[in-house]
Amino acid sequence: MKSVITGSGIGIPKNVVRNDALTKIMDTSDEWIRTRSGVEERHYVDDGQGSAELGMIAAESALHAAGRSKDEIEAIIFATMTPNFYFPGNGPVVQAKMGFSDSIPTFDIRQQCSGFLYGLDLADSLIRSGKYARLLLIGADVHTPFMPWEKGWASTIGQGSSELSAEDFAFNTSIRDRTVLFGDGAGAVVIEASENNDRGFLAAKLFTDGSNIEALYVPGVGFRKRPYVDHQQIDRAEPIPVMEGREVFKQAVSKMPEAVRSVCAAAGVEVSDIDVLLIHQANLRIVEGVAKQLALPPEKVPHNIERYGNTTAGTLPILYHECVQDGRIKPGMLLCFTALGSGLHWGAALYRT
Ligand code: ACO
Repeated sequence: MKSVITGSGIGIPKNVVRNDALTKIMDTSDEWIRTRSGVEERHYVDDGQGSAELGMIAAESALHAAGRSKDEIEAIIFATMTPNFYFPGNGPVVQAKMGFSDSIPTFDIRQQCSGFLYGLDLADSLIRSGKYARLLLIGADVHTPFMPWEKGWASTIGQGSSELSAEDFAFNTSIRDRTVLFGDGAGAVVIEASENNDRGFLAAKLFTDGSNIEALYVPGVGFRKRPYVDHQQIDRAEPIPVMEGREVFKQAVSKMPEAVRSVCAAAGVEVSDIDVLLIHQANLRIVEGVAKQLALPPEKVPHNIERYGNTTAGTLPILYHECVQDGRIKPGMLLCFTALGSGLHWGAALYRT
C-alpha cells in the first residue's frame, strides 16, 4: 500500500505588500531585501483572518481538485505555529466551520517551517498503518500578528498612516532582519491510500536538534512563566520571534542537503534522479545554496519566495500546488520535499508522482 496526493489547493490573502511599502516604516530598502533574501512581495491577512481561515480556503480547493467530499475524509492534520487560538488548535476550527463529520480525528502539529514536511510523513504513516484511507493535510501560517501594528504596519495594507515617530521607526528597524522575510499563506493536499505501487511516498527522513532553540524562537508568552504573558514581556517585545539569521542560514545550507542525501540512500535512488526539489522557501540564497551542493540544475529547483516570502508551514504546499498547476510537476516524476526551521526540525521526503 502507498499513499498518494490526489489534489491540492492554496489560500493566499488578498493584500499584496511590496518591499517599497516596508521602506516607509523602517530603515530598509527594496535592494537589500531582494539581494539578501529574494523576497519582492508578500501577502498579509486582514485583521480577523487567521491561519485556520486561510487553511480552509486551501482545503476547499484541494478537496475539489481531488474530487472528494468532506464525508470521504477520515482524518485532518493541520500544521501551523500560528493557530487561531493558543488552544485548541486549528483542527477543531476547520472541522466545525467546514462541516466535517465529528466522527473523525483532527491532529494539530507545529514544527514551524518543517510543519508540512512532518505532516506528510505523519499522513503517509497513518495511511500505511491501514487506519485511515483518506486524509486532509493543511499547512498554514500568518506572521502579521507578530508585528507591532500600532507602529505604522496598517499602512502596508493601505490602512492608516505611515507617518511615524522616530522611536517607532527605530523599533521597526530593530526587527527588520525578520519582518521583511515573512508573509501569510496556506496550502493543502488530500492524501489517499493507493494499491498502485508505482506512485506515492517512497521514504522520509526527519530530524530534530533542540540544542540551540534560541537560534529561532519566541522568548515570551510561554508556560514556564507565571503569568504566561504580562505587560513587561510585551514592553520588552518578547512575543516577537528572535532569530540568529546567520546561524539558521548556515544550518539550512548544510542540513537540508544531508537530509536529501540520506532519504535518497534510504530509497535506493541517486540525488541526480530527483526531477523536482521542493524546498522550503526561507531565502533564495538558501534555495540556490542547497541546489548547488546537491548539483541539481536551477530548472529542477523551483522557487516562489519572490511573491510570497516565507509562509512557514505554507511554503511547501503552495510551491507544490503552483508546480502542478503550471506543469512543472508531471506524472512519473521523482519529487523531493525538504525543509528546515525553528526547533531545529528538518528533513526530506521522496515522492513519485
Ligand atoms: N534591511 C536593511 N538592512 C538590514 C536588514 C533589512 N531588512 N536586516 C538586516 N540588515 C542589516 C544588518 O543590520 C547588518 O548590518 P551591519 O552589517 O551594519 O550590522 C547587515 O544588514 C547584514 O546583516 P546579516 O544578518 O549579516 O545579513 P545576512 O546576509 O545574514 O542576511 C538574513 C540576513 C536574510 C536574515 C539571513 O541570515 C537568513 O535568511 N537567515 C535564515 C533565515 C531562515 O532560514 N529562517 C528559518 C525559517 S523561519 C521559521 O522556522 C519560523
